[in-house]
Amino acid sequence: MEIRFEKTEHPMEKPDQKNLGFGKHFTDYMFVMDWDQGQEWHDARIVPYAPIAMDPATMVLHYAQETFEGLKAYRTEEGKVQLFRPEMNARRMIKSNARLCMPAVPEEMFVQAVKELVRVQEDWVPSEPDTSLYIRPFMFATEYSLGVHMAKSYKFVIITSPVGAYYPEGIDPVKILVEDEYVRAVQGGTGFTKCGGNYASSIAGQVKAEKMGCTQVLWLDGVHRKYVEEVGTMNIMFKIAGEIYTAPLEGTVLPGVTRDSLIHILKDWGYKVNETHLSIDDLMKAGHDGTLEEAFGTGTAAVVSPVGELVYKDDKVMINDFKIGPLTQKLYDTLTGIQWGRIEDKYGWILPVE
Ligand code: COI
Repeated sequence: MEIRFEKTEHPMEKPDQKNLGFGKHFTDYMFVMDWDQGQEWHDARIVPYAPIAMDPATMVLHYAQETFEGLKAYRTEEGKVQLFRPEMNARRMIKSNARLCMPAVPEEMFVQAVKELVRVQEDWVPSEPDTSLYIRPFMFATEYSLGVHMAKSYKFVIITSPVGAYYPEGIDPVKILVEDEYVRAVQGGTGFTKCGGNYASSIAGQVKAEKMGCTQVLWLDGVHRKYVEEVGTMNIMFKIAGEIYTAPLEGTVLPGVTRDSLIHILKDWGYKVNETHLSIDDLMKAGHDGTLEEAFGTGTAAVVSPVGELVYKDDKVMINDFKIGPLTQKLYDTLTGIQWGRIEDKYGWILPVE
């Protein structure tokens, strides 16, 4: 794919790397390309970061035909820049788009676009510990029409943002509310996709959780409201009596890249990983009888995030005295070690940007 480059006349000032937060700062450039029926993808370009003008009838604003991805570029101690499994994001976006009747960006095109955008603004990849350049590819319907149908035109855009930790807690444990009123996904729906609509409908749970002093929501399955699925911005794993439990990928849970990577690492270390339906009653029971040893969320933004407390109806369990558990810490150190190039990448997950 040929990518046109338009140089910015007004390079932006870089933010303080010690105080980045998450998704608050944006960089000099964005990648854009267009899809029109009969013309496929065309006009790939890296242009100065700028607002996108839209007709008020643009379909995405009404019917939410939109999908997105999230990955990061990491700076190693030697100053090199690298990506972590970008092809997994490309493949997941193809699956999300198929469900939403949106065109696929072929894997090679996706990876090339990400790599090139990072390469031209390599100086935006921060070097402070635990910082990275978050990469947000997204696609949306651009046709303007009020009839509900598969749009005839789309835009694929990639923006980037230098980030620190997603949660203000950083690697400190978070408190999570188990949601028993709203549901996130059912089989046959869009739960396995990364579409904006999934996140829009999760906000009511998030607001409720925050009112109760919790950082996030743990969603139960949408049919029985019984089995543990995922957290608002991450997948979740539990260590119970020495074994790992996480929800299976059966159409309602996001197939996380971090989830997949940690399952590989855990199996490599000899852990039994049960991708199975774990009921909230069994989980709370394990919390009370002391067999729930650790719980942690997994995600690109959240990395490996310890869960210190679960609140479910009138019940609460504290996990590992609200401290990060030894396995959670070891997973965090190993995964981030590979991502920042401190540990050998024996799985072949790193793609250098050069
Ligand atoms: C990610 O982990 O990259 C995500 O997309 C989660 C998010 C909604 C911040």
